[in-house]
This record gives sequence, C-alpha cells and structure tokens, in this order.
Amino acid sequence: MSRHLVSIADLDAAEITRILDHGERYRALADEPIKKLTTLKGRTIINVFFENSTRTRTSFELAAKRLSAEAINITSSGSSAAKGESLLDTGKNLVAMHPDAIVIRHMYGGAPAMLAKALGCAIVNAGDGQHEHPTQALLDAATIRRAKGKLAGLEVAIVGDLARSRVARSNILCLAKMGARVRLVAPWTLIPRGLELIGGDETRERVRVTTRLEDGLDGADVVMMLRVQSERGEGEAPRFPNTRELSRTYGLSERTLAYAKPDAIVMHPGPINRGVEMSPLVADGPRAVILEQVSWGVAIRMAVLERAVLGLGGLGGPAQAAA
Ligand code: NCD
Repeated sequence: MSRHLVSIADLDAAEITRILDHGERYRALADEPIKKLTTLKGRTIINVFFENSTRTRTSFELAAKRLSAEAINITSSGSSAAKGESLLDTGKNLVAMHPDAIVIRHMYGGAPAMLAKALGCAIVNAGDGQHEHPTQALLDAATIRRAKGKLAGLEVAIVGDLARSRVARSNILCLAKMGARVRLVAPWTLIPRGLELIGGDETRERVRVTTRLEDGLDGADVVMMLRVQSERGEGEAPRFPNTRELSRTYGLSERTLAYAKPDAIVMHPGPINRGVEMSPLVADGPRAVILEQVSWGVAIRMAVLERAVLGLGGLGGPAQAAA
C-alpha cells in the first residue's frame, strides 16, 4: 500500500474513513493542555513550499511537532530552486538526507506525482497548481462529518472559482467517494468542461453543475465558498466582468444563504476575500465553521503524516503521550 498522498483518487472510502477516524483522536488532543505524542519520535519530515501558504504550512509543521517528529521547512525563496536547480534535483538532494516524508506545495500540477514516482520517500501533496489539495479535502470532510454526523447523502454546494481551484477538485473526488452529492456553482467561464466527470462514474452520478446560485444552494446541507484565484490567471483574458459583479451574482450573504437548509454550514478553505465571495456577516456568523476547518487541519495532517511515515497499519494503534 502506497504511503504517498498525491491525489484523493489514490484513496478509497475505507482509507478516507480511517484517516478521518484517526484525525478525530488527534482533534481531541488539541483540547488537552499537553498536545504532544511520541508517535513519530526520531522521524524527520521536510516541508517544501514553493508557493505562499499560511494555514497549510503552519498546520503541517505543527502536526509533525505534535507527533514529536523533526520538522524542517524550506520555502522557494530560500532554496536552490531560486538558483535554477530542477525540482527533481532538489528532491534527490533532500532524499539523500534521509527524511521519512516530504510534504510539498508547488505551482505546477503534477509536481508531487513526479517526485512520488522518482524518489524513494513518502510524498504528501500540500497543493499542486490547479490540480489537487488532498489534505484540504480530508480536513473539510472531517469538519462536515463532525457538524453533520455523516457524509453520505449530504448535499454540498461548492461555489466560486472552480476553474482554478485545487480545493474544488480534491473535494469533488472525496465527497463523491464518501457518498455525498455535490453541486458545482459558478458562471460557465469558471466551470471547466467535464469537471463533474473527473472521478469517472463515481462523480458522474453524484455531481451536477449549475450556473444559478439559487438553484445550487436550494436545500444544501453545506455551502463551500472558494476564493477568486486571480493570481493564477495573470495574462489570461478575464473570466468575468469584475469581482463586484461576480460578488453580486455568486456571493454568499445572509440573503442568499437563506436558499440553503436552515441548519446548513458555511465553509471556506481560506484565505477569504471578505466582501467578495462572502459577506463578513456570514463569515463571522453562527453557521460558519471556517475556523473549525483550520483546527481540523492540524489533526488530519497528523493522521496523514503518520500514514506517510508508518503506513496505514500504524493508524489505529494506541496514542502514546510524549514524556
Ligand atoms: C487554498 C490553496 O492554497 O489552495 N488555501 C488553502 O490551502 N487553505 C485555497 C486558496 O488559496 O484560495
């Protein structure tokens, strides 16, 4: 069984459930005064971030530290990539230092898959270009499962910049595998053709596309808003008139949230553009679980790192508090 986590497509529903179950135990640990276990004591994890990150990088580092692993962080500006070294060479050099896992965020979709194939070290994808962000989908699934008690049968609306969102891709795959139904909501220019088919039959049956916010939110249990990723579209023709217009048609306000179920939860992977994809009243309101997503991020990444270093067999053993 592979210990890499490159794509949600690599996991089946049972493995996802196992990671979520294990994440639950680590989430409980966050409420203890001492949050450290010895599970990965003496192990080394290298976090290589070639793209900006606040939540993901901090939570991977914290996750490694809470498991007592040594965590080393490298960013592109401080690495030899800035001197022209190829990603593969950087990877080979890091592996020569014998880490137990490498966590990588890269602007090119496919970079983690390439390293997973070429290097003899467990690779964890922390977001690759517009391709995937599997740990985000897992932490989102954990957040939904805690709020709703289940994933199967839920109606989840994913709204916004679907074209450039790796978060959307991983969530579509993960939610469909877990038996939820997904509505993709955006103007046509932000919905790549065939996005609803990325998981084959699994997603074909469970995902539908709509350009009408009212239709997409109608009766939804979960509303997941995405940021407009303008930084990925530099040099491209604009995909919508302007952000004010987009916000008026597809933004989440107290008025538009009323289309969803009365107990619907509101999610966002962060960073939020307040006033663009959602109003501050909604972002800070009682239905938002956005900061809970962040808390789950640490717990789920602990489970993912444990899987990467010790294998799935390591999941489920008794947690050992650090001395
Ligand atoms: C997302 C990302 O980087 O893909 N953020 C995150 O990891 N929490 C989404 C985004 O940047 O909008």
